[in-house]
Amino acid sequence: MNHPTITERLADPAEARESGRRKIEWARQHMPIMTAIAGEFREEQPLDGETVAMAMHVEAKTAVLTEVLAEAGAEVAITGCNPLSTHDDVSAALDAHEAITSYAERGVADEAYYAAIEATLEHGPTITVDDGGDLVMAIHDEYPELIDSIVGGCEETTTGVHRLRAMDDDGALRYPMFAVNDTPMKRLFDNVHGTGEASLSSIAMTTNLSFAGKNVVVAGYGYCGKGVAKKAKGQNAHVIVTEVEPRRALEAHMEGYEVCSMTEAAEKGDIFVTTTGNRDVIVEEHFERMSDGVVLANAGHFNVEIDLDALDDLAVGRTEVRDGIEEFGMADGRRINVLADGRLVNLAAPVALGHPVEVMDQSFGIQAVSVRELVENGDSYGPGVHEVPDELDREVAEIKLEAEGIETDELTDEQADYMDSWQHGT
Ligand code: NAI
Repeated sequence: MNHPTITERLADPAEARESGRRKIEWARQHMPIMTAIAGEFREEQPLDGETVAMAMHVEAKTAVLTEVLAEAGAEVAITGCNPLSTHDDVSAALDAHEAITSYAERGVADEAYYAAIEATLEHGPTITVDDGGDLVMAIHDEYPELIDSIVGGCEETTTGVHRLRAMDDDGALRYPMFAVNDTPMKRLFDNVHGTGEASLSSIAMTTNLSFAGKNVVVAGYGYCGKGVAKKAKGQNAHVIVTEVEPRRALEAHMEGYEVCSMTEAAEKGDIFVTTTGNRDVIVEEHFERMSDGVVLANAGHFNVEIDLDALDDLAVGRTEVRDGIEEFGMADGRRINVLADGRLVNLAAPVALGHPVEVMDQSFGIQAVSVRELVENGDSYGPGVHEVPDELDREVAEIKLEAEGIETDELTDEQADYMDSWQHGT
């Protein structure tokens, strides 16, 4: 199969490259962790002879990770992990790199999206880097012959790790995968602060509306939901949380948020943000209760959290009222506005830039050292989902603290001994 690269598809690739290059350089300037790792990788060439396939949100920060892997000696083939999150200019700038091929293109239909994944795999990867699990699924379903030469892979997000764990439980996962999402350096920052800040800023930029004084409904009080709720509260919204997990619901209650069912929240909310990673969170019975003019956005990985088919069935008309906002007109005159086709709003809205650079510096720092670990010690990991070794997470945290000029205390020998001992009592 000969799927075209982004360069072959663009009318003016030179102009796109130039604009993409500026975005990448800006991101790199603000990524001290990636800068430190890149220095080490250029010198030691840990990925010499490896081929990395990536399916990720192709924007400036991801581009820095891609280039750092190439600078470490790898050949890299990349495509998107969502048809609306690619920045074509960044994709073109990557494709201009001699060791990188980019197939990512914004707005492609399903067929071209999956053809690009296959094209990426035809490079014969020895390592995969996924955000959502599409590469791993395609390899197991359609390219099982690649599995023997793959040393391992990394998964960026909660939904991807869920899919991998389900595969692993069924004995179907045939090579080692690091759950990068689950490291403290990723999940406590990217999912919480990144999703919180980036989702709210994308909603604000797309709608030009304020959160102050509004009822913001956050569906799911996991890592992402906590971030969205906290940042919305910080912008003077009244935050309402919906949950299915009793401890998480109680946590939200003790943080001072109103907690109720989606049925009740549907009547109160002005802005709804789904962060569950689950399907059918906002459905027909909820649309029927909503007020005129509500705004619905999803920040979970797949566009299954808001039941758009049911909304379409209820609607008497659909209008694009602003870039990235579709208004569904109800028979009774109410208008329900959906952002970015119900895809993750912080990456798929037309104005979206994804998470802040500093946050992705941490997430991608973990990705980079995890890829290095697979090459150096891949043999010691069997097929299945693995935690990223804690010392790698600490390594990245230490680089960041040093870059920020933050000093911490160190345990004395006596303290270390005390913490490790079961013999000390009162
Ligand atoms: P998590 O597992 O910590 O939280 C999800 C929460 O949703 C859980 O507390 C769960 O009980 C709750 N939930 C599940 N079904 C529900 C329902 N029907 N109604 C209400 N609550 C429900 O997961 P995390 O890390 O917060 O990730 C959530 C989603 O966001 C995943 O799809 C993940 O891949 C995605 N994600 C998106 C990012 C972005 O850039 N927008 C960044 C990181 C993760």
